[in-house]
Amino acid sequence: MGTHISARSIDGPSLNKWFLKMPSSPKSRFRALLLASVVALIIIYYFKSPNSLITSQRPVGNLILDYGSHRSIEEQIQEQEEQQSANSEPTDSENVPSTQSEDQGNPRKFLGDINVVPPSEAPPVSPGTKELLGVPPPNYFFKTVTNPEPRMPKEWIQSLTNRRIENLKFRIYSHNVKNGGSHELVSGELSWEERVKEIALSMKFHSTETTIFTLQEVYKYQLLDILAQLNKFNDEWAFYGVGRINGKDLGEFVPILYNKNHWDLLYNDTIWLNDKDPRSSLQGWDATYARIASVASLRHKLSNNIINVFNTHFDHVGTAAREGSSELILAKANSILKQSENKWPSFFAGDFNAYPDDECITKIKSEMTNSVALATVGNRYGHTKSTVTGFEGEVLRDGEQDIDYIFAPKYTKRVDEVGGAKTSSSVCDKSLKSNVFAEKADLVLIQFGMLHSKFNGRYMSDHRPIVADFAINPKCS
Ligand SMILES: *[C@@H]1O[C@H](CO)[C@@H](O)[C@H](O)[C@H]1NC(C)=O
Repeated sequence: MGTHISARSIDGPSLNKWFLKMPSSPKSRFRALLLASVVALIIIYYFKSPNSLITSQRPVGNLILDYGSHRSIEEQIQEQEEQQSANSEPTDSENVPSTQSEDQGNPRKFLGDINVVPPSEAPPVSPGTKELLGVPPPNYFFKTVTNPEPRMPKEWIQSLTNRRIENLKFRIYSHNVKNGGSHELVSGELSWEERVKEIALSMKFHSTETTIFTLQEVYKYQLLDILAQLNKFNDEWAFYGVGRINGKDLGEFVPILYNKNHWDLLYNDTIWLNDKDPRSSLQGWDATYARIASVASLRHKLSNNIINVFNTHFDHVGTAAREGSSELILAKANSILKQSENKWPSFFAGDFNAYPDDECITKIKSEMTNSVALATVGNRYGHTKSTVTGFEGEVLRDGEQDIDYIFAPKYTKRVDEVGGAKTSSSVCDKSLKSNVFAEKADLVLIQFGMLHSKFNGRYMSDHRPIVADFAINPKCS
């Protein structure tokens, strides 16, 4: 360390004089050097110590972890009550003194927002400030639309008889994102601008290129915001879906999102869940709204395998409507199977607004399997109860609600029944000229998960995402 330099940097005639009058004897020089070192150490200690007058820099991007997730419901209730009683007091984040290191563009220090990478994104559409694409104006006159049944595509109706089935792993990720209408936010609900990033980042983080997303309660502007987030760095994700009010942009969508670099959309359709005409935008039975189901047949480009994905959101009030809706969806899936040579597996995902023992679910379970029922202790991830939380965890307190499902074909197997995720222990019969999918391949539930939806103390939606991973394993490889 240069005593010379530090002495020079300190201004003052007396010090300069002292420096000039540096003693010449080696003993005195050593003493002076020792003194200078002690002074330097004291200065360093003072600057580093907690009592220092200089503010220590807070780490940038100190990620706030959600430590509350493992706590029991009782503890959560207690915490909620404590929070409510302390409601008038300022929150923690407001108590944090602003420091020199505070990033104005990232005041909450969310790690994911630190690097603002061009091209800068368009801000999500803010309810109340702009026209909300797809939200019907009040007293909107619902004119019934009728859409013809779409043609069945050629590739879709090819028989499986002379065709190899390849290995394929894919995920279905289903989430009711909660509509962001122009109505007032419910208690605890964050604005859409705040929720959409968490929703899209969860989708991004929990997906690969073969993931299919099925979302519910999505207005067009919300769908565009989610796609903008997903496609922020790469233009990959596309969707099929229409608004339930007019079969175009108006009303909630139940869209199916897929990576267009890896899947081709072969066929799409929307049916209206009603007892009069499923081709027409009508309310059915005792339903409160016109409800729909989206169907997309997707061909995986690399393997040429096809899957049929249904996405729906059943009426929350009408019991008869839910039962009728189950029948309509099953009929549509069966018509795909029977009218065509499409023997590929179909999946039903969505918010069915019904419990596992309700009649509409029992109806579906007579022909399909609830995929979560195929999971075992070793491949069931995350929450085990209640796909619904509410925005304040109130649904968890008042008794859980399991109303979101991913249904798979009846022939879907548990992972332990096929001897692993990659291989099929089923017998290969090369002479088999079958047009039946289940005779040529195993469809396996690899794992199931109910994901977390509460980060930094706030819920991104009032539902949690559910995820099912499937594998198609050919019996003859
Ligand atoms: C859905 O299918 C119709 C034909 O029935 C087609 O015109 C349309 O482009 C398809 N939609 C998408 C998103 O590919």
